[in-house]
Amino acid sequence: MSNQREQWGSKLGFILAASGSAVGIGNIWKYPHMAGQNGGAAFTMVYLVCILVVGLSIVIAEFVIGRKTQLSPVGAFETLAPKSSWKWLGFLGVASAFVILSFYGVVGGWILKYIFISLSGGFHSLANNPDAAEKLFGGFVSLTWSPVFFQIIFMVICIYVIVNGVKEGIERWSKIMMPLIIVLLIVLAIRGLTLPNGVEGLKFLFQPKFEDLTASSVVLALGHSFFTLSLGMGTMITYGSYLDRKQNLLSSALWVIALDTAIAMLAGIAIFTTVFALNADPAGGAGLIFFILPSVFPQLVGGAIWGTLFFILLFMAALTSAISILEVVTAYFIDQKGWSRKKATIQFGAVITIVGVFCSLSMGGGINLTEFFGISFFDFMDYLSSKYMLPIGGLLTALFILKKWGVNNFMDELKKGMDKSKLSKELITVLFGIAAAVVGFIIISEILEVVFGITLIQ
Ligand code: TRP
Repeated sequence: MSNQREQWGSKLGFILAASGSAVGIGNIWKYPHMAGQNGGAAFTMVYLVCILVVGLSIVIAEFVIGRKTQLSPVGAFETLAPKSSWKWLGFLGVASAFVILSFYGVVGGWILKYIFISLSGGFHSLANNPDAAEKLFGGFVSLTWSPVFFQIIFMVICIYVIVNGVKEGIERWSKIMMPLIIVLLIVLAIRGLTLPNGVEGLKFLFQPKFEDLTASSVVLALGHSFFTLSLGMGTMITYGSYLDRKQNLLSSALWVIALDTAIAMLAGIAIFTTVFALNADPAGGAGLIFFILPSVFPQLVGGAIWGTLFFILLFMAALTSAISILEVVTAYFIDQKGWSRKKATIQFGAVITIVGVFCSLSMGGGINLTEFFGISFFDFMDYLSSKYMLPIGGLLTALFILKKWGVNNFMDELKKGMDKSKLSKELITVLFGIAAAVVGFIIISEILEVVFGITLIQ
């Protein structure tokens, strides 16, 4: 099977696809509000350290495992560690993909709806009135049919891209959408910077306020470095499996990280300059995108256009991430079960959509599972994946290299495609050791807190 495996068309295509996976709602929505609430540049510095120490190691680890085996996670771990339990790490990845995409698809649907609201001038009556914007949002997501309708459209678009394959689907669309995302963000950032008072937003984002940086901000930064780089569930293993041995994996990983970080910063600039110019509440937290911005855009000249461009940008970022999650599931059924791409994508895309419908309906649309889970099903799926499944997946990947596959084997594969490398075995061992220790500590403290009520971190 593996000799007919699809491959990326070019190095640029691969980098754009992988950074398309990385750049998503996490960059444009989560990062700006996290930085805004956790000490601005102080948070950003911690976040950059997490990305460079833990994130970079795991991105490279996933690329190496994928390229070495030319298989998606389950097959990859099975090949490198035959007859062991490590293949369960692959299954954990496939399971995480189900969990994440089910709620990610719901958010994708909201974004689609907001493109239409903005286009039809629907933000107009929200000018300078975030409370009205919050009501509009709350009213919409708690409906039964409308959010589900938009979620289904979003998922159908994802399925369409993935059915078309690696080169004609993922790579093709990433090559179109990633440059558009960057251009749109630059335009929005310039627009924000040139508004009177816009520069205040820069200060808010980039002035370090160490008093706002707590131990839990550090944990947040670490968790986010996993989420934003799409790590811990085999996305990058799967994307790496479509590579040939000519590529330099270190430079590819650095590119992905640089693009991901640059786009998060640009999004922060575009959003906070606009928010400050119009005296809106920068600490709007999670509501920043859906409550604050819709009340800010209509106050700008050409507000409907800016609002629409923003939500189109967000839609493209969400789509290039969502397809990478679906590809993990599809690749599993192709590699391990011998299914056709079309059958795997359509069947499991449909299953994920159905689970997502429950997420959507748990926001007030009629299915109340709160008694069962303690929180809404939507929040449950979010916490389960970003607090447990992804960090555990990342931790085990680091341990896999250190304990099972071996740093030497890992380095042999990494060096293919690199002209000369100064990487030493010791350095790699230390990096993976740090990554494993830090993530392990955080997982343990989380479990202690939830199960035993013991707080290690603040
Ligand atoms: N990285 C994406 C974001 O920032 C989300 C994402 C895509 C993801 N694929 C993933 C997160 C795999 C975890 C695992 O929005």
